Amino acid sequence: MKNKILSILLSSKDYVSGQALAEELGVSRQAVWKGVNALKESGYEIASTPNKGYKLVSPPEFLNAEAIKNELKTELIGREIIVLDSVDSTNDYLKELGNNGCREGVVVTTREQKKGKGRMGRVWQSKRDENLAFSFLLRPKMAPGGVAAVTPLAGLAVCRALRETTGLDCRIKWPNDIIVGKKKIVGILTEMAAEFDAVEYIITGIGVNIDQAVFPEEIEYKATSILLETGRHYDKNRLLAKILTCLEKELLSNNLRLSQTALEEYSDLCATIGKGITFTRGSRKINGMAVGVAENGELKVMLSDGSICSVYSGEVTVQGIY
Ligand code: BTN
Repeated sequence: MKNKILSILLSSKDYVSGQALAEELGVSRQAVWKGVNALKESGYEIASTPNKGYKLVSPPEFLNAEAIKNELKTELIGREIIVLDSVDSTNDYLKELGNNGCREGVVVTTREQKKGKGRMGRVWQSKRDENLAFSFLLRPKMAPGGVAAVTPLAGLAVCRALRETTGLDCRIKWPNDIIVGKKKIVGILTEMAAEFDAVEYIITGIGVNIDQAVFPEEIEYKATSILLETGRHYDKNRLLAKILTCLEKELLSNNLRLSQTALEEYSDLCATIGKGITFTRGSRKINGMAVGVAENGELKVMLSDGSICSVYSGEVTVQGIY
């Protein structure tokens, strides 16, 4: 009841009468009144005026499935949205659902992540209500090798969403960190379950630093947030809906492949291309110049002898960035 009332109030700019709510929901006015009070108790500011009805004064402060859905313009990604209060990792939570056969398009997000995972076994911090941490699951019909293109496409989509929403000059540090200036603002971790020749599901987990003002000392030099860059608070429900909308557009319109257009757009926004980089191969550190990205998402690097090699995973340090 509470969520249904919220959904109606969210989509209406003006007052909605108690009678109209009761009729639309097929319940008594007393039930509407109770539902509105329950919403107020959970922290929503709702004006109630005699003869006019109810109006949502301010958007919900916390993550809320109805508020996300209200802004969402997708058909697949986010057709089911699970908002958790707290979880170890949204990727791991979704993995359980994936193993139990959930349909594709499910999104899991949380107010707090206690054991968030980063790439290369690192930890990803998501303190309560500070940042966005979410994962979505797809079941593409492709061989495991094709998955490498999904993460750059996801990076491109998130980069676009943030540029359009905040006006920040977000760029992509290959393969999929989103940076502002020299600091990281978004991290993406894609994991998959696959048979020898076919993908069972892919889970892409995305962490966006939104309101975090202080970072642990060891990453302070390379981490930032939307708040630190713009001085403004952005509504997390709206922003998540915008990101999911961009993700679906980017992934589906390109058929989960790095098409020529996507590749050109990725290259335009990629802060790595044209820069000196250092990457690791085995235990060796190799220097080169990043010259482009291939259709399978690999980074093309020119070595000191003029030859071109491909870097497909691992750690890359970009001169002047991190
Ligand atoms: C990285 O840059 O190292 C990747 C960070 C990915 C973090 C996100 S937050 C949501 C999802 N759940 C996780 O445990 N990790 C990803």
